[in-house]
Amino acid sequence: MTRFTVNNQPVEYQLDPQTPLLWALRDASNLTGTKYGCGVGECGACTVDVDGEAVRSCQVAIGALEGTFVTTIEGLSRDRSHPVQAAFLASNLGQCGYCIPGLVMATAALLRTNRDPSDAAIAEALTNLCRCGIQPRLTEAVRRAA
Ligand code: FES
Repeated sequence: MTRFTVNNQPVEYQLDPQTPLLWALRDASNLTGTKYGCGVGECGACTVDVDGEAVRSCQVAIGALEGTFVTTIEGLSRDRSHPVQAAFLASNLGQCGYCIPGLVMATAALLRTNRDPSDAAIAEALTNLCRCGIQPRLTEAVRRAA
């Protein structure tokens, strides 16, 4: 059994400790806002927050998370009222939308520690991939959120 906190609720997973966090969230907790893209840590669609850090949940085994605090897009805000979500909406950032939850989580983690990120800091922190090509507008949205 693995115990930690997801979106301020204690959870106990009766799963193999090697189970990736992504699948525990999606399959066991029905938190499907966290997306599967590549499964190898490259795309960032699965980004969640673990103890204040943006983490690619496909690359973290739940057994390593005992006692941690995990926040998913559902825990950030259920009504899209988080400042990052509001800024993304105001910037018309979403197209297909698949990568947006991961980008929101990565942006929220960045702005928690850097309130005025430079273009370089944004590019370094937000390596999430988007097939729709929103990257040129992403920097503007992050600045709006900041
Ligand atoms: Fe985790 Fe792509 S699904 S980084």
